[in-house]
Order: sequence, then C-alpha cells, then structure tokens
Amino acid sequence: MNNIQATLVLIKPDGLKKSLTGNILTRLSETKLEIVAAKVVRVSRELAETHYCHLKDKPFFPELIKYVQGELHDRKKVLAMIYWGEDAINKVRALAGATNPEEADPTTIRGSYGRITTKGLYENVIHASTNEEEAEREIKLWFCPDEVIVDLYPTNKVKKELSLRVWA
Ligand code: PPS
Repeated sequence: MNNIQATLVLIKPDGLKKSLTGNILTRLSETKLEIVAAKVVRVSRELAETHYCHLKDKPFFPELIKYVQGELHDRKKVLAMIYWGEDAINKVRALAGATNPEEADPTTIRGSYGRITTKGLYENVIHASTNEEEAEREIKLWFCPDEVIVDLYPTNKVKKELSLRVWA
C-alpha cells in the first residue's frame, strides 16, 4: 500500500557549524526519498517561535529559540528541506534518532553528532517532523507552494502587488 508523505527536515546551526551537511545528506539518501524543496533560511524570531509554538511554556524555550536562530553557534541560518516519498516521516525519524541525543542510538544522526548543553538544551543537529499533521503545519510555515516541485497540499491563486528586490 502506498503511503506517500512529505516531511520537513532542518539541518540546524550546530550541524552547519560542525560541517555535517554532506554527511547528513548522505545518511538521508539511504532512505531513497526525494528532496522536493531546499533552501538556506535566516530564521526570524517569529518563524522560530511559531515552529516551536507547542513548547512555549517549557523552561528551555528561550534557549531553543536562540539555538535555532543560530545565536549559540555563530551560524545564523538553517538548511530547510522537504523529503517526499513512501513512509517519509518514519524513515527520516529512524535515521535521525531519538530527540534526546543521549538516548539516541549511536548509529543515528543525533546519536552520532548531538549533545546536551550545560543548560540542558538538546543540540541535536537535525529537526524532522513528528507526524503528518505536524509535517503539514511545518512545511506550510517554512515553504511557499512555488518553492516545492510537487503539489503537496491544495493552493489558492491570489493576485498581489509586490515590491521585489531584483538583480541590478
Ligand atoms: S514534545 O515534548 O514531545 O512535545 O516535544 P517534541 O515535539 O519532541 O519537541 C521537543 C523539541 O524541543 C527540543 N529540545 C528539547 N526537548 C526536550 N527537552 C529539552 N531539554 C530540549 N531541548 C531542546 C527538541 O530537540 C525538540 O526539537 P526538534 O527540533 O524536534 O529536535
């Protein structure tokens, strides 16, 4: 039975600072999933807080927001991607490993490269959507429909007057 899913993957600022991008992409290629969108993002406070909105009452929330914005690693960006294909959510999560890098299997991405800071924050290198509902919410938050090369969710056409920066 086909269970085609999309999932959001973020290579977080610690992953970029530790030069793990190539390594992580190679690991994720084991899934045989397709990358259908990718971009480097400078994460605004608003984007960070909306992405992690379900955690706003946790004691580690302020540090988590600083972390994903790159303030702890002097790398103010993340690599955001959408992986797409059969059972994408579980396949990516299996390779990513447990959220807590100390509990993650050492062969997984987080188990290999993650750590817990002295403040108790998980620096776990990669984010991967938890389930289909979260994947849809997160994908719609990080990407516009035109940035994705497949049609994942219904869209509307709107006419807007835009002021765009173009190459001089
Ligand atoms: S929960 O508790 O199940 O609703 O949270 P979850 O969806 O697993 O996401 C928790 C995210 O917060 C990051 N984080 C921590 N979680 C728990 N404890 C500590 N100390 C902590 N520090 C950071 C965790 O890495 C999850 O983010 P992602 O980006 O998914 O890894």
